[in-house]
Amino acid sequence: ARIRYHKWDVKYEFRSPDCYKKLVITINGMSPGPTILAQQGDTIIVEVTNSLITENLAIHWHGIRQKGTPWSDGTEAVTQCPLVPGDTFKYQFTVDRAGTYLYHGHYGMQRESGLYGSIRVSPPDGVSEPFAYDYDRSIILTDWYHKSTYEQAVELSSIPFVWVGEPQSLLIQGKGKFDCSSAPAPSGVCNASNPECSPYVLTVVPGKTYRLRVASLTALSALSFQVEGHNMTVVEADGHYVEPFVVNNLFIYSGETYSVLIKADQDPSRNYWMSTNVVSRKPETADGLAILNYYPNHPRRSPPTLPPAGPIWNNTAPRLAQSQAIKARQGFIHTPPPTSDRVIVFLNTQNTINGYVRWSVNNVSFSLPSTPYLVALRQNLHRVFNQNPPPEGYDFANYEIYTKPNNTNGTSSNAIYRLQFNTTVDIILQNANTMIENNSETHPWHLHGHDFWVLGYGKGKFDIHNDTKKYNLVNPIMKNTVPLHPYGWTALRFRADNPGAWLFHCHVEAHFYMGMGVVFAEGIEKVGKLPSAIMGCGETKGFDKP
Ligand code: C2O
Ligand code: CU
Repeated sequence: ARIRYHKWDVKYEFRSPDCYKKLVITINGMSPGPTILAQQGDTIIVEVTNSLITENLAIHWHGIRQKGTPWSDGTEAVTQCPLVPGDTFKYQFTVDRAGTYLYHGHYGMQRESGLYGSIRVSPPDGVSEPFAYDYDRSIILTDWYHKSTYEQAVELSSIPFVWVGEPQSLLIQGKGKFDCSSAPAPSGVCNASNPECSPYVLTVVPGKTYRLRVASLTALSALSFQVEGHNMTVVEADGHYVEPFVVNNLFIYSGETYSVLIKADQDPSRNYWMSTNVVSRKPETADGLAILNYYPNHPRRSPPTLPPAGPIWNNTAPRLAQSQAIKARQGFIHTPPPTSDRVIVFLNTQNTINGYVRWSVNNVSFSLPSTPYLVALRQNLHRVFNQNPPPEGYDFANYEIYTKPNNTNGTSSNAIYRLQFNTTVDIILQNANTMIENNSETHPWHLHGHDFWVLGYGKGKFDIHNDTKKYNLVNPIMKNTVPLHPYGWTALRFRADNPGAWLFHCHVEAHFYMGMGVVFAEGIEKVGKLPSAIMGCGETKGFDKP
């Protein structure tokens, strides 16, 4: 095993990723940031300097479980105090499993300002992947807003409430194209001929097979991704091998990663489009485009055809079907425990609390404390957060999930779920109607510090007597991010075997900001000595000084 050392400088710079000039957060001058390449068992060290001048910072390593290093998870207010401007912080952790992972900002809504990148972990020496390919490439899909994240944050927490709305463009590996003529902008701000906003190009050699690692870190959008004229064979999801299946379009939700195999077996005299489009919400954003360039054609030559139109946005059935098609690959199955020790149901609701619009779980909207949970729990600082346990479910008999609720009675809390160490926990995510008639949204839920088994998805209200009988206990996929489909349920199981405090939240940036998350804590007495560098804020003022 090797040590992979990185030194990062994080700052704001003016960039035009979709031709529209705005402030973008860069790492060593790049957005997306540098790709971290490693081999299973390696130790990653990233020394991060916050050069944002007027903003705090924290960076999360999405999909890395942080076994033995819960303080390196990078979750502001959960595992560490943020880096204040001028600070340097050393993240150090091991990557214990091959696969495709991500990193991104985890302070406020910074992720959507461009602070993200890929982590690619290869298997140990002598171990090969259970599928063959010639070349390996990564792309991250994002949606892009022209407003600053502080403006959005202030609007979301104002009365009257102002929603962020649909994104201005979709980016493929940090590149997109906004139609400058569609909205007036001050002179010089939107420049369609800026070379920065030329499409991303993936060059392929005819006859070769490509492993394309596709990830989504959208702020809001659920996406479909397609490659004109080419099928994709799905082989990996969130670091686990998938029983291969072929798709024309890949549905992907924020926080998910997939590897797909693509064979460059089409007409080699031309290029093809890759496209991504919004699903699940009524699109107001142009499809994101990139070029699949058949060598030796010119990489910028536009394909002679129209880009493939993705699937229709408001049909949930194919999305549910694709979620259900993802199974663990034969020979790589981790069998889940047959039963669980505890079942927690999380009803996803929108609420009004004192006139503010919030998202909630079981009518409790999550708020972050000013002292990180990990320090508060380890050092018994009881005043830091509400010590009462939050609700384990909702009023199952009376709550109607298909109608607009009268949810004016929510509360806001920073209470957490304490899990008995080494027990098995089931989570049932239950979707419902929002505060708009006939509307239910897609929520991608992401768990820090663990992978979970995906036991099943279904429509309507989860029935604890009958739906549990349909669980897949034979070959469920393990993941760290999973969609909750409109008006549906998703059932998960995980082992509470990683000492620490871990966030579980909707990966929609604005939803989490509006309270859509919870914290689990387990095995706190087994957590090693906390580095003083994670302290210094809230009740830990001065704890970071020797
Ligand atoms: Cu990728 Cu807590 O997030
Ligand atoms: Cu959500």
